[in-house]
Amino acid sequence: MSTPPLYRRWANHYLHAIQSGALSPGERMPSVRKLMQTHGISLSTALQVCRVLEEDGWLEARPRSGYFVQLPKRTTVPLDEPSSTRVDPAQFVGIHDRVSRFILSRRQHPIALNLCGSRGEPDFYPVKALHKVAQHCLRLYPEVLVSPVANSGHSKLRHILARRSLARGMTLSPDDIVITHGCTEALNLALRAVAKPGDTIAVESPTFYGLLQILESLGMRALEIPTSPQHGISLDALELAMQTYDNIRAVVVIPILQNPLGSLMPDSHKARLADMCAKANIPLIEDDTYGELADSPTPAHTLKAWDRNGNIIYCTSLHKTLAPGMRLGWISAGRWQARVDMLKHTQTRQNEGWSQLAAAEYLGSSAYDRHMHRLKALLRQQRQRTAEVIARHFPPGTRLTNPAGGFSLWVELPDRIPSEAVFEAALNEGILIAPGVLFSNSNRWEHYLRINCGVRFGAKVEAGLIQLGQIVHTLLQQSRRTRNSPAVPLAG
Ligand SMILES: Cc1ncc(COP(=O)(O)O)c(C=O)c1O
Repeated sequence: MSTPPLYRRWANHYLHAIQSGALSPGERMPSVRKLMQTHGISLSTALQVCRVLEEDGWLEARPRSGYFVQLPKRTTVPLDEPSSTRVDPAQFVGIHDRVSRFILSRRQHPIALNLCGSRGEPDFYPVKALHKVAQHCLRLYPEVLVSPVANSGHSKLRHILARRSLARGMTLSPDDIVITHGCTEALNLALRAVAKPGDTIAVESPTFYGLLQILESLGMRALEIPTSPQHGISLDALELAMQTYDNIRAVVVIPILQNPLGSLMPDSHKARLADMCAKANIPLIEDDTYGELADSPTPAHTLKAWDRNGNIIYCTSLHKTLAPGMRLGWISAGRWQARVDMLKHTQTRQNEGWSQLAAAEYLGSSAYDRHMHRLKALLRQQRQRTAEVIARHFPPGTRLTNPAGGFSLWVELPDRIPSEAVFEAALNEGILIAPGVLFSNSNRWEHYLRINCGVRFGAKVEAGLIQLGQIVHTLLQQSRRTRNSPAVPLAG
């Protein structure tokens, strides 16, 4: 095993001091002269120690004052844009196996800290207010427990959703809306309305693994299109795929706060995407699960706002914004509305009435807007604090997204450390994360992790993230040792 050069050893020594908090941001780093005296090293070694730490972003050189400790600004280092318009050929076998394997491993370990999901803890949601509203509805309309609701959902809820959609740039009538069991059912209905088993569906890469599971369960093939961490799906790559493959039956995108990238599709891209798909007569399915969580000064316009001929099927959820326990979502299916109505009826019939009524009451009040304002501010703080700990405690070379809203940070590990190994090691410590391999049928994202910022930040989360950082450090050292170890000659 080769030993690192002297300057690297002392640089690691000071890096450790910064990461453990012995040297804090803003504090002066011991001068070059002091380093020479204290450690008995040469001027050039002492200078190299400071330069290495400066290059990695841990020190800032101030003219005539020396070096000062700082946190690397990794939170603002954007992830790479997709390097090509190459698409991954249609595949559909595999994601269930992967997800099942992770679920099995997870069941075998007690979980002390769950950073795997993509939603807030129960106390992020207005539980007291919802409780009050639900009781009020029951007092006022006790028959809601015994009378069936219309197949497409409670009219009060559809009404308020249609009204709220105006702010997102959509003009829908309550009859354009079907209430579903979360966005999962909405996506299932949308895909079944426009495609059949064996068909190819273009999706973003990486994408929400639940979508890949739905496609696999419906016997459809996912064609993975490169996706930018800033702007969402690459329209050039999609256009090329449409020219290359003549069997694309639908495109599914998450334009606002893409899961896991957190990207925001600019309005100009929404217009071009809507136009491209309409011209090619390919149905466009929009998943707007996180759309209301965007940190924009005015509500972000949906892709559906650019729908001119009913070619866009809009799917969304109240699960992440209002109440994970109620499992409410909805769909507005454009020219496939009648087919979606029929499929909903054959698949699950209507959702139960009481929660729809309670949701309608709450969404119709100003309390909902106040709740969303608080939730977005809380999540902003959560993401920032999580990113700070990652920046401080993960090895140099780690990069992460800086999304303008939502729950997730997408972390790229240095030296292509496999996230599955991080997942296993973290699980042994009782920490659950979502490894990148889940977000694609290919292995392209295996050195990425998704971290949920929906667990209230505090000592436990901080300690868990520090532990994750240590795991990544250890795996990085192991991988470098393996790479640097001389080849062993074959015997005989
Ligand atoms: C992008 C995306 N779509 C859909 C869903 C599923 O939504 P629901 O829980 O409302 O079924 C999720 C859940 O994490 C998601 O992240």
